[in-house]
Amino acid sequence: MLEQLTGSEDPHPIYEQVRARGPLVRDNGVWVTADHAMCNKILRDRRFGVRYTDGTYPGMSGLLPESFLETDPPDHTRLRRLAAPAFSPKKIDEYRTRVEKVAESLLHDDEFDLIADFAAPLPIAVISELLGIPDSDTGDFADYGRLIAASFDQPMTPEMHLAAEKVGALFERLIAERRARPGDDVISSLVAAEAERKLTAKELMGTLVLLLIAGFETTVNLIGNGVRALLDHPAQWALFKANPDMAPDVVEEVLRWAPPVHLTNRIAHEQVDLVGADQEITLLLGAANRDPRVFPEPHRFDVLRVQQPEHLAFSSGVHYCLGATLARMEGDVAFRALARKMPDLRQAGPATFRDSVVIRGLRSFPVSRS
Ligand code: HEM
Repeated sequence: MLEQLTGSEDPHPIYEQVRARGPLVRDNGVWVTADHAMCNKILRDRRFGVRYTDGTYPGMSGLLPESFLETDPPDHTRLRRLAAPAFSPKKIDEYRTRVEKVAESLLHDDEFDLIADFAAPLPIAVISELLGIPDSDTGDFADYGRLIAASFDQPMTPEMHLAAEKVGALFERLIAERRARPGDDVISSLVAAEAERKLTAKELMGTLVLLLIAGFETTVNLIGNGVRALLDHPAQWALFKANPDMAPDVVEEVLRWAPPVHLTNRIAHEQVDLVGADQEITLLLGAANRDPRVFPEPHRFDVLRVQQPEHLAFSSGVHYCLGATLARMEGDVAFRALARKMPDLRQAGPATFRDSVVIRGLRSFPVSRS
């Protein structure tokens, strides 16, 4: 069933077929769930991990150094703790004014591509600043990061390999610079942790590459999917423009209704009910977000909806998105900036979709400010 997802712009009819068969079903040798409660339970259950019991990771391309996203506790816990302080709500709040400036500065043309000219440059500028990447390197980082992020759900190309090598070389240079002159940024604090033997050089590189790419395509699609949803639902766009403080509610409903990440996988580390040790489960987060048992009228985009329990756009359990506070703030700032500066924004041509199963969103979205 899931092979039908490739190339399908709207995955929900397929998700509904999975849901109709039960909360946990077998499809082509893997377990699959479209059920919110089941996804949440598995993500929080320590008997499941992201690796096989022998410690190998499924489908590792070798393109990127391993990161804590692909690691189980206790290593996951140790590495995540070292990166977490940079993403605390207090730290993210301190960035808000700078993100607002970036958002404002990107909105100057009458006709533009919402993805290439707004949704993409915003998170790139933000993560570069957060990592303390010098302005002169930001363009290169952005190009490489985009190529590498694409490798999550597309076949590997020679360009991706080259990009991975160049990102490695750039980070090596920044690490050497921070060793010589530590600053107040996340690279410096991770370099200090490496000196104290809290993580290896390989783990340091894996963490930095993860931080660079995890927030790229994901946040681009939060902004892109959100603006499209608002323009397609004029009454809600009008409601939001009249009440910009609803921005956090808009962000949550976009994350539920059109999440950037549609699925993840877990592996049983022991027999758990029907699932044997080392068997994989595909968790359809995008389907769980439209589970009618949790969200009444799930296919309706409704910014006034009560999000309780939380959608699974940021996953759940120990791998819950470390950048969630940052992503929410970026979405909030982006939607408010557009509502304020471009209240008459409209679609100006056909949108094209990213042809991918995991990260879903628009490749291009031509818009006009009037
Ligand atoms: C709307 C934007 C975003 C979405 C939808 C999103 C989604 C996710 C999801 C679903 C996971 C967990 C995958 C799993 O459980 O297997 C995750 C993990 C992660 N995300 Fe995000 N993300 C977003 C933005 C960001 C940003 C801006 C950053 C910051 C750099 C970030 C950093 C991370 C990291 C470091 C992890 C790994 C956490 C761990 O393994 O403990 N994300 N994200």
